[in-house]
Amino acid sequence: MHTTDELFDRIAQDLRVTGLSVQTIDKTEPALQALVQRLSLFSGSDFSAAGIGRQTEHTQNTEIRSDKIHWLDSGHALENTFLMYMDELKNHLNRRLFMGLFSYECHFAHYEPGAFYKKHLDAFQGNTNRVLSTVLYLNQNWQADYGGELAIFDAHDHSILQQKITPQFGTLVTFLSDEYPHEVLPATRPRYSIAGWFRVNSSVNGQIDPPR
Ligand code: OGA
Ligand code: MN
Repeated sequence: MHTTDELFDRIAQDLRVTGLSVQTIDKTEPALQALVQRLSLFSGSDFSAAGIGRQTEHTQNTEIRSDKIHWLDSGHALENTFLMYMDELKNHLNRRLFMGLFSYECHFAHYEPGAFYKKHLDAFQGNTNRVLSTVLYLNQNWQADYGGELAIFDAHDHSILQQKITPQFGTLVTFLSDEYPHEVLPATRPRYSIAGWFRVNSSVNGQIDPPR
């Protein structure tokens, strides 16, 4: 079996059991290497302040989050390499779990030292078609004392801290968007991640709900 299939199987199994998965993508995975190369080509102006909410209700809220983001685009070859990888994951989860995942969107996030994203849910029950969240970390040789963990809270009692995840290179976190509140803790070093969401297709009046 291809190693990607084994990884995707472990994610499917975790999601089936708890709705939360923390796995590691192999350092030699071409999709991961493409992202390293992409990161090295960025300049500061390629990132812009992140907002809360979508389109019309989109507002910048620097009290909730202070990261800067860059959306991935299939028209960029290096970005597309990762998008294709996540498309394989989507197909795998649909085959194993019948999740009906329809599309995927994601952005790079750059957290400068001290930056944060306060505790939040990526989706509210019944209010969105974002069903599955992913976060991939791109920080090589991250040390525990740099901070910057992803704090994940209990799906039932949102006040209980369940686990803290070090944003180490290759760590891929996948979780049900409307179940797990989470928070990005400040770090002492620049911190890079890719946050993404799989959507189901909740079309209205025959129009496919546009991403973002
Ligand atoms: C998000 C998010 C986590 C991270 O962008 O919604 O929770 O570690 N990101 O980047
Ligand atoms: Mn989030």
